[in-house]
Amino acid sequence: MRGSAALIVSVLLAGLVTDTRAGSESCQARMFSQSSVVCECNATHCDSVGRVTLPAVGHYLSFLSSEAGSRLHREQGQVQRNSTGTALRITLVPEQKYQHIKGFGGAMTDSAAINILSLSAGAQDQLLRQYFSPEGIEYNVVRVPMASCDFSTRLYTYADSPGDYGLLNFSLAEEDTHMKIPLLHRAQALSARPLSLFASAWTAPSWLKTNGALIGKGSLKGQPGDKEYKTWAQYYIRFLEEYEKHNLSFWGLTTGNEPTAGELTNYSFQALGFRPEQQRDWIAMDLGPALHSSRYAKTRLMILDDQRLLLPYWAKVVLSDTHAARYVHGIGLHWYLDHVAPAKITLGTTHDLYPEYFLFGTEACSGWTSFDRGVQLGSWKRAEDYASDIIEDLNNHVTGWTDWNLALDQGGGPNWVKNFVDSTIIVDHSRDVFYKQPTFYSMAHFSKFLWEGSQRVGVSTSGHSALESSAFIRPDGSAALIVLNRSDAEVPFEVWDQTVGFLPSSAPPHSILTLLWNRS
Ligand SMILES: *[C@@H]1O[C@H](CO)[C@@H](O)[C@H](O)[C@H]1NC(C)=O
Ligand SMILES: *[C@@H]1O[C@H](CO)[C@@H](O)[C@H](O)[C@H]1NC(C)=O
Ligand SMILES: *[C@@H]1O[C@H](CO)[C@@H](O)[C@H](O)[C@H]1NC(C)=O
Ligand SMILES: *[C@@H]1O[C@H](CO)[C@@H](O)[C@H](O)[C@H]1NC(C)=O
Ligand SMILES: *[C@@H]1O[C@H](CO)[C@@H](O)[C@H](O)[C@H]1NC(C)=O
Repeated sequence: MRGSAALIVSVLLAGLVTDTRAGSESCQARMFSQSSVVCECNATHCDSVGRVTLPAVGHYLSFLSSEAGSRLHREQGQVQRNSTGTALRITLVPEQKYQHIKGFGGAMTDSAAINILSLSAGAQDQLLRQYFSPEGIEYNVVRVPMASCDFSTRLYTYADSPGDYGLLNFSLAEEDTHMKIPLLHRAQALSARPLSLFASAWTAPSWLKTNGALIGKGSLKGQPGDKEYKTWAQYYIRFLEEYEKHNLSFWGLTTGNEPTAGELTNYSFQALGFRPEQQRDWIAMDLGPALHSSRYAKTRLMILDDQRLLLPYWAKVVLSDTHAARYVHGIGLHWYLDHVAPAKITLGTTHDLYPEYFLFGTEACSGWTSFDRGVQLGSWKRAEDYASDIIEDLNNHVTGWTDWNLALDQGGGPNWVKNFVDSTIIVDHSRDVFYKQPTFYSMAHFSKFLWEGSQRVGVSTSGHSALESSAFIRPDGSAALIVLNRSDAEVPFEVWDQTVGFLPSSAPPHSILTLLWNRS
């Protein structure tokens, strides 16, 4: 079976040629103790995917990353008039239209900024280019924490003067003015398109809270409509004003990071508890009206910003209330408990109930569980976890996906409570290098190719394949198909697009493929 498959594959691939316009540099591969490699970059060398121009109808591009070591390896192939006869056929069904893509990105935490700025100016520039430039993977979304979180080196908010209900002493921190804001400006300057920033707060100032502390179990004092809730809403407006003074405007806001953390558990780091009823009433009485009467009325407000396990319950409580729902645009999702929260009954049900509210991934990272903690340089398993979750989300109405810290150090920090995790880019400042993890390429297979405004369309798969895939028509009319093979076997397949013909392809064992083609 595998012998004949290999024969078919080599026949099919005979038509493929490596495209010489591929990114100018190749991956400087380094193997640590994991199943795959990282690509090492320094101030003068970094592999990059390069600008992508699609060939004329009749040809297609494919980009391959694999456990065996391919990293966005570009090839050009010929579309064929006849079926290649492979058992597995993926048919594009453009008449079935679903959600439009908003975008992909990561978070500019204090720790990410510290790590990026620990490199030489040349290596910093290289790293930012990797994420944001047209030669890089073209992130267009950045999550910006409002004040400190666990990925900070100290505890602070922007209004730590007790009793300052008028927020007269509200001020941004040095982390904002010296690190995050300058880096966001540099990222924007490298990007061909406007970046969409969204902000999330981890905690209110301690003097507004029942527990009088930034960490642990506690919520706002009083009730929605009371001065504490009004002040907390004004804090968001003041944040937007201060960033605007630095010429940075925000596409979105969340109602706060992981509201269940400060409600149900005694978290060891910054948290602010909200029950969904409290969140609903705070939006209806305080945050919604404050935003609506400010210059920031168009800012997209996302509720939840927590595990999708809470859906559709959380959405029902908030969005069935017309007073709150009128101020809300979307629902933010964290990926951590996705394995116990089937997509259809969480995302699918929520979309069916509230199709006018977008679903959007606001946080995800690897290395967060106690049995699988911290940085693993070169883990392909983690790349597959990312790609699989993104594909599942996209196939269930989600419009984008935001990774957690844009960069961490080799210990997975800094993190003031030692909640160390993994990141798509790991910085080793002692050698002035950074490592692009396999997860960086998982993100790339989506962020580089699924431009804002791309629309998901249907696919139908012949046979019994448990293949993971998602297809899109991009704003320029071209098609993009992402395929994940998590098995040990190479799987030949063909794509059938009735407007152009058959695209012969093959998914190597443990690989991610993006296929792109013009349709007219
Ligand atoms: C940067 O990396 C390239 C490729 O590995 C290497 O040839 C070059 O010497 C490195 N530069 C420095 C300053 O280490
Ligand atoms: C395509 O198939 C048809 C009929 O099955 C055959 O006549 C024709 O030669 C084939 N074309 C090519 C290019 O193989
Ligand atoms: C603002 O901070 C100063 C000291 O930094 C303090 O004296 C003053 O009382 C504060 N104002 C308010 C309204 O809290
Ligand atoms: C903001 O932009 C204006 C006009 O483009 C410019 O004059 C000003 O210096 C900028 N301010 C900052 C803080 O970057
Ligand atoms: C919460 O945890 C802290 C230690 O992080 C502890 O001091 C405190 O007593 C705990 N509070 C509750 C209510 O369990």
